[in-house]
Order: sequence, then C-alpha cells, then structure tokens
Amino acid sequence: MKITLIVGSPRKNRSCNFLIDNAIEGIQSVSADFAINKIQISDFNIIPCNGCDICLRPPHDCPLAEQDDTKKLEDLILGSDALIIAAPNYFGSLSSQLKLLIDRSRPWKMKNYLLKDVIFAPMAATGLRNGGEGVISDLINFALIQGMIIVGNTEGNPVLEGNIPITSLQKHGLKEFLGKEEKDELGGLIAKDLGKRVAELLLKFKK
Ligand SMILES: Cc1cc2nc3c(=O)[nH]c(=O)nc-3n(C[C@H](O)[C@H](O)[C@H](O)COP(=O)(O)O)c2cc1C
Repeated sequence: MKITLIVGSPRKNRSCNFLIDNAIEGIQSVSADFAINKIQISDFNIIPCNGCDICLRPPHDCPLAEQDDTKKLEDLILGSDALIIAAPNYFGSLSSQLKLLIDRSRPWKMKNYLLKDVIFAPMAATGLRNGGEGVISDLINFALIQGMIIVGNTEGNPVLEGNIPITSLQKHGLKEFLGKEEKDELGGLIAKDLGKRVAELLLKFKK
C-alpha cells in the first residue's frame, strides 16, 4: 500500500519536513511494507489555475498541464491509499505552493473523484503557538471536496496529546522561540502517532 506525504513548505528541511518525517516514523513502526512516497512541493512547477473551466467538460483535462509539472504530481499522488500533507501557516492559511496544487487538482474531482476514499491526515507548522487551525481547515476543506476520508490522531493519552499535529516555533507558555537545534517534542509525537494511525487504518480496511 502506498502512502504519499507532502512537505507543503518551500523550505525543504524545516518544520513541515519535521512533521512529515515523524509521520513516516509512525507509519514504519506499524510495518516496513508500506510504500512511502515523500514529495517536496517546492520541487514542482505549478502554474496557477486561470479559471477557464475546461476541466468541467469531458475529458476533464487541464490545458495548463502541458506546460508544468502537474502531470508528474498526478502520477505520484493518484493511486495512493493515504495522503498526509504538512502545510506551513502563512497569514492563517496554507502556502501558495499548496494552494496552487489544490486548485489544479480540480480535474481529479471532475473525473469522478479520483481521490475518493483516500485516507487523509492534515498537519500544520506555525510560527506562533496559536494560529495553525486555519491551515488545518484549509486542508480539511480540500480533502472533503475531493471525497477523501479525514482522520486525526487518536493514539496516546487523550487528555495530554492532541488530535491534530500542529508544530510551533514558540515554546509552550513562554514568550520565547525554540533554539536552532530544539524540536517541538509534542508536535513531533502527535505527527508520529497520526502516521501510526493512518498505517493501522489502512491495514484494518484491507482485511
Ligand atoms: C509569508 C509568511 C507568512 C507567515 N505567517 C504566519 C502567521 O500568520 N502566523 C504564524 O504563526 N506564523 C507565520 N509564519 C511563520 C511560519 O508559519 C513558520 O515559520 C513555519 O514554521 C513555516 O513552516 P516551515 O518551517 O516548514 O517552512 C509565516 C511565514 C511566512 C514566510
């Protein structure tokens, strides 16, 4: 089974990547047999949707796909059993790179929901401790509109561990930021546990 994970930040090795790597660790703690398909969104050139609506009519293709990397992304993403996206908080919303991909994924919906029933897990990286929820909402809307099945974390202590992995550069309860080598342990733990849950759900559904 194939699990695709997207680092949605233009920065390849920062907080979104931290969440994704933790999720991968969680997946691999369940089984080494999953095909892990990690994508860096910044590796792909995605032209903005121009609203031409050509995708509404058969064969529901996007004419812009001749000029950019969306076909490559389509090949990588479609056919996944689960999709996990980590998005950075940019002004309370997700990165423009991810928004480009989301808008250009409209043909996948128009071709009768090619992402239907894919398990989807949202994650966010934010500067300030409070503020990642808007990013998560954007990701959830994308998943809902594409017919995916959205899951949150249910591993770990239900009182002490949250359901949505949101990592922050700001320390808990302090007007202070993490040092260069410091990691948000709780955010990483929730990401790992969410990866584990996604993997376990896939195995459950396969039975
Ligand atoms: C254009 C821009 C806008 C941002 N807006 C916010 C914001 O509104 N709130 C916030 O807490 N952090 C904001 N940040 C900080 C990022 O969310 C934070 O650095 C996050 O860790 C980025 O993910 P990355 O490390 O994977 O790149 C912003 C960063 C950029 C570059």
